[in-house]
Order: sequence, then structure tokens, then C-alpha cells
Amino acid sequence: MDGLLNPRGPIGIFDSGVGGLSVFNAVRQLLPNEHLIYLADQAHVPYGLRSLGQVRGFSESITRYLLAGGAKLIVVACNTASAAALRHLRNVFPQISFVGMEPAVKPAAEHTQSGVVGVLATPATFQGELYASVVERFANEVSVLQDTCPGLVMEIDNGNLDTRAVQDILARALLPMLAQGIDTVVLGCTHFPFVIPTIERIVGPRVRVIDPSPAIARQVERLLKSQGMLNINEASGYARILTTGEPEKMAGVLPRLIGESIKVHHLYWDGGGLWDEERLPPIGD
Ligand code: DGL
Repeated sequence: MDGLLNPRGPIGIFDSGVGGLSVFNAVRQLLPNEHLIYLADQAHVPYGLRSLGQVRGFSESITRYLLAGGAKLIVVACNTASAAALRHLRNVFPQISFVGMEPAVKPAAEHTQSGVVGVLATPATFQGELYASVVERFANEVSVLQDTCPGLVMEIDNGNLDTRAVQDILARALLPMLAQGIDTVVLGCTHFPFVIPTIERIVGPRVRVIDPSPAIARQVERLLKSQGMLNINEASGYARILTTGEPEKMAGVLPRLIGESIKVHHLYWDGGGLWDEERLPPIGD
């Protein structure tokens, strides 16, 4: 890693919307003294219906912005962006480490008793080669059912976690899977951990729901530790929340998602780069 990175710098975490806050929560719980910058690209949510090329472009500009803000590691807290952009980002920005999402098909395949598992993710995640390779590598003995839960990302991004619409979308996805014998549900979209209570009411106590967020937080810790980049400062780290959407709207749902109110700052897209009130866009856009 480039010697210019500072252990006291923030961890940059981004997603298309509020979904990545499920990873933000897990990182904050495991590493409370790390500074976190969370960026929700709500001007473009949902990513899951966009082309991989578009998501790649957004992810690159977001990474530039987070690097300009001193990020020492970037968490792509988005299965869709991980599928579309993780390899590209590592090629463009070799100076910094990335932690990305990967649908937790491996643990599901290892633990299933019925041999039937369900995966919930966006269309773009299912189309990506990352998902295909994970299923091929780890689930060749297992029947993998999948559903994109149309409309669920936007329900959650609008702060709807247990409405009739959310219940209907999940029931339409999960009841047929239950009828085919699933005993495990993989949450392949970072938005979906926020509706686990509704999922559990539908699938019942005998079906295991896998939320990858804690495993991602442990990977962040392992990576920072291996690079000597953990923030050894005792005090609690700061959390800075940014959105390219409406700050007030995101601020309004934060208490339900992260358990506290934090000011949300606005970023705006201009000329392919991200600008904010305090700083000019990153150099080189
Ligand atoms: N939460 C993201 C994911 O894990 C993206 C969802 C979307 O914007 O479609 O895929």
C-alpha cells in the first residue's frame, strides 16, 4: 500500500442508497474508534436496474471523492457495485485496498440441510460474473433459487421497512422458495438486512437468514490490521454521512437504520465528478 495513507484517516463506505448502512453499522460496532465516511448515491438509486458500465462510472467517481477526503480503505457496501466495479476499481486505484460484497452462497451451501437455498439480490448482481463464479465454486451440490424482489430496494431507501408493500414483495419472493424446501435465505443486497424481521415472520424460525454485514466488518478489521492501518486512537471515531439525494429525507430515516440522528451533507454530481459545499471536486475529473 502507498505510504501516504494515514491510519487516522477515515474508512470510506458507499452504496447506491441507505443499504450500505447495514455494513456501516457492523463496522462501527466492531471498530468504534475508526472514522467513517458514508456516501449514498441516491441521485442514481437503484443501481440494480442500471448497466454495469454506468455503475462502474459512478463507483469510480465516488472512490475519487472518498480518496480526496483522505480515505485509507474503501468498502463497496453494495453487491451491485461490487459485481460491476470491484475489479475495475482495484485496477484504477492500486494505491488503496477495497472490501467488496459477495453473496454469501458459500456459508449457505456449507450449512444447508435441505440442500435448497434462496438468494435475494438485484438483477445486476445476478448478471455479474462474481455471482456466477460464487455459485459455480461453492454451490454445485446445492439447489440455488433466486429472486430480485422488484421494488424492495426503493421501499427501503424511502424508509419503508415493514409496510404492506414490503410484506407483499417479500412474500411473493419467499413463499415459492419455501414451497421448494429452502432452509436458508442469503441477503445478497445490503438494503435487505433492514427488513430481516419481516423476512423472519414469513419464513419462520427454522429457516436461517444470512446477513453478510458482520463478516464484511471482520474483513475490514483483518485488512487494516495486516497493513498496520488500524486507528489506535482511543476516542470514538466520527461518522460523516453524505448523499447525492435529499439530505433531509435521508436524515429522516437514519434513526430507524442506525439508531441515531446524524446531519446528512449533500453532494452533487457535476461534470462526472462529485462536489460538496466545503470542497472543490477531486483534482483530475
Ligand atoms: N444495496 C445495493 C446492493 O447491495 C444496491 C441496490 C440498488 O441500488 O439496486 O446491491
